[in-house]
Amino acid sequence: MMLSGTSTRYAATERISFTGPPKRLIGGFDQFNYRSTTKYNRQMDTSRRSFCLSIPAFVALPASWTAFASALRAAPSAPDANNETYWALVKRQFPLEDNLIYLNAANVCPASRPVLDRHSEFMRDFQANPSFQNRLKYETLRERLREKMGAMLRVSADELAITRNTSEGTNIVVKGVDLKPGDEVLITDHNHPSNNDSWKVRAQREGFAVKVLPVRVPAASRDELISQVEKGITPRTKVIAITHVTSTTGILYPAREIAGIARQRGIWMHLDGAQTFASLDVNLKDIGCDSYSASAHKWLMGPLEAGILYVRSERIPQIWPSIVTAGWTDHLKGARKLEVYGQRDDPRIVALEAAIDFVSLIGIRTMEARGRFLATHMKQQISEIGGVKLKTNLEPELSGGVVKCDINRVPTKQAYDSLWNQHRISIAMTASGDSQGLRFSPHIYNSREEIDRAVAAIKSLAS
Ligand SMILES: Cc1ncc(COP(=O)(O)O)c(C=O)c1O
Repeated sequence: MMLSGTSTRYAATERISFTGPPKRLIGGFDQFNYRSTTKYNRQMDTSRRSFCLSIPAFVALPASWTAFASALRAAPSAPDANNETYWALVKRQFPLEDNLIYLNAANVCPASRPVLDRHSEFMRDFQANPSFQNRLKYETLRERLREKMGAMLRVSADELAITRNTSEGTNIVVKGVDLKPGDEVLITDHNHPSNNDSWKVRAQREGFAVKVLPVRVPAASRDELISQVEKGITPRTKVIAITHVTSTTGILYPAREIAGIARQRGIWMHLDGAQTFASLDVNLKDIGCDSYSASAHKWLMGPLEAGILYVRSERIPQIWPSIVTAGWTDHLKGARKLEVYGQRDDPRIVALEAAIDFVSLIGIRTMEARGRFLATHMKQQISEIGGVKLKTNLEPELSGGVVKCDINRVPTKQAYDSLWNQHRISIAMTASGDSQGLRFSPHIYNSREEIDRAVAAIKSLAS
């Protein structure tokens, strides 16, 4: 299958075709009726045994998703975060172009082959037979997805709404919580506009106050982050809305401690999880926030325009839906009342399940370890380059997968353009302000060698 005009790994390694509707719709994603056009699947049974015996056997493994999945299931233990051979195999499950160094997970991630396959299979299935009868199965699939997502985040399926992205999830909270003139909402100036400007817009209409805390870069300590929020609370504070890992400079907020403070005072605590969902092993029950929003097209490597909103069960009766249309009733169970938007893109929701399956197969802890390994490797090297300021904390308790740095003598836009034009390194940037600089966000499809090449490029720009 060619996904673009260029020859991609995806195109080069295997062609998988779908030979009809799913055989069984309740079950794992490998129960679909795949027919591989390569010899790889046939090789798999014999290579499986050697895979179990030693890590170097990864080298012998085929790129085929089904073979890869079977081999991983048979593996005796999770692979090390720095086993480049294993991670090279993971990379082959993505359609990334060969000469592209993609370091922008914080914005959008490529979807893996099983996600792309599932999405296109179900799009064909849906379009071939859009009858109510054929579409009935999507209800079941959506609920199965909700269960899996709940298990991943350690919350009940009933506490999850399936949204279109983080912005939408956060805006449902912004619009849905009761507030009156005189109330206060506490945010930080490093929140994304969806968790910052959205509060200000509503406040302008309704007359409550929005108090903005300035974030120091890099963060001094967890204690300082906690006490800054605590000191910002007044008897009028009704909502605290912060970001789990900031997209500006990558600060990991002590969400659990802040949620505890909020809970004691009856304040609603919303957490923007855009940069932590499927990047860190997030346990929402342990954190104890009231709501958490995230996108599936970022670190989860899911389909575009899919996301989640968690609302703690005790809080669900207190939040209003932003959209009400056919299918909505007061009796919808749990957070489902927040996701009735009219006709949804059902095949995309099914593809979202494949993304959860992909992450579960690799293991969220293994993924976090790999992401942290790459980000730390990068930060350590950057911190040693003269003339470059690392803006992200090195301490694991204050950082996640986002890396920000600023080259002192080179304008940020110039450095950003040069990374792309001369090295084909795709990143994000902030042109000015306290979080000015180049943002790198490596993920499991990146190799250590790619990080080293990015660091070398920064070094040559700084010299
Ligand atoms: C912290 C944070 N929140 C929210 C968003 C918005 O995400 P989306 O555009 O997927 O809604 C982003 C996007 O990068 C982000 O970094």
